[in-house]
Amino acid sequence: MKLYRHVAATAVLAIAGLLASAAPAATAAPTPVLAAPDIPLANVKAHLTQLQSIATANGGNRAHGRAGYKASVDYVKAKLDAAGFTTSVQQFTTSGATGYNLIADWPGGDANQTVMAGAHLDSVSSGAGINDNGSGSAAVLETALAVSRAQLQPTKHLRFGWWGAEELGLVGSKYYVNNLPAAERSKISGYLNFDMIGSPNPGYFVYDDDPAIEKTLKDYFAGIGVATEIETEGDGRSDHASFKNVGIAVGGLFTGASRTKSSAQAQKWGGTAGQAFDRCYHSSCDNTSNINDTALDRNSDAIAHAIWTLSTEPTTPPGDFYENTADVAIPDNGTAVTSSVSVTGRTGNAPATLKASVDIKHTWRGDLVLDLVAPDGTTYRLKNSSGNDSADNVIATYTVDASSEAANGAWKLRVQDVAAQDTGYIDSWKLTF
Ligand code: TRP
Ligand code: ZN
Ligand code: CA
Repeated sequence: MKLYRHVAATAVLAIAGLLASAAPAATAAPTPVLAAPDIPLANVKAHLTQLQSIATANGGNRAHGRAGYKASVDYVKAKLDAAGFTTSVQQFTTSGATGYNLIADWPGGDANQTVMAGAHLDSVSSGAGINDNGSGSAAVLETALAVSRAQLQPTKHLRFGWWGAEELGLVGSKYYVNNLPAAERSKISGYLNFDMIGSPNPGYFVYDDDPAIEKTLKDYFAGIGVATEIETEGDGRSDHASFKNVGIAVGGLFTGASRTKSSAQAQKWGGTAGQAFDRCYHSSCDNTSNINDTALDRNSDAIAHAIWTLSTEPTTPPGDFYENTADVAIPDNGTAVTSSVSVTGRTGNAPATLKASVDIKHTWRGDLVLDLVAPDGTTYRLKNSSGNDSADNVIATYTVDASSEAANGAWKLRVQDVAAQDTGYIDSWKLTF
């Protein structure tokens, strides 16, 4: 069995059957979290006006494979280049045409902890796509430009992305994630997605994925007294799914597409009950008139709040993770197996955001039940079995509120395969404090 205590990025102590007793790295004094600036609505709308002009000049749309898409990329890229971002355009091919992702890195910050925000920049071919998704594209762009105006020096590294061919099935974002080496993927602490954030009859929906990202976004709306709901209009229908599928923590905002606003929702948010959040969804009328300014303004400010908060908060001191990379076979439809890591040298309890990252290779992930077992035997359910979860592998990070558990001791990942035929093994797992 190999047990690793990672003491620093450069030093790995590998001690057979034994645990490193080195004290954890001293935690730096917490850096005060800076307040985000107000994102000027007029600037966000000016980007939308430009995207509309690009569509108008190019056959009325900004769809994958059409001139209006590439012109949109050029517009956003020029703004970012002028503001000091390091940009790159990633090409891919789908449906017989070249697609483009635009990636913009803000120099500085800890690249091992990269906070990423993105939006799809393509429209459908039936219209200019100003709400879907000029709105997210423009708000992420203006947030990036605000980072530059503030000359923000975040503790974490910041990266922004504009995806191509989302409307063809998340093609651009999947391409980006699939072409990131595993080591680069693991440096992304979180990905925030903004797709449709200015719907004309808006709701205020927050993705219910990573709890820390969700809380950061909800905190903003709570602060301005706006109620939110969990986003349920088709989980996995935008680019965050590409990141979530490889175990990256995700979150995001959404103001609604073709679903109808209920009367309860109209009461809390205003607008028209019995009408779609966006009656022009995927239609030719998704133009600059198809935007609710208040929704666009609030969501833009929420993005800035999240970017500032997540990138300037104190970072996890390096070395505070404990990993077991020994393979453990999981018997088919059999008894539970465990893999342990021993945590030593810490003081007090585990955090409320203890992260258990698992890498399980399996031919049918739905067979698997996962628990984290604390040193005192308390179990925390990470994942249930599901007859119709037919994907393979469980490569995911689960956040556990372990604040009532002593940190030190032997923690176990317990895995049971509860259905016949498909099999696999624990490849590795780790706990991050
Ligand atoms: N991504 C979809 C589109 O571009 C819109 C959409 C539907 C969506 N449901 C969602 C976006 C949920 C975010 C979250 O057409
Ligand atoms: Zn969209
Ligand atoms: Ca099985």
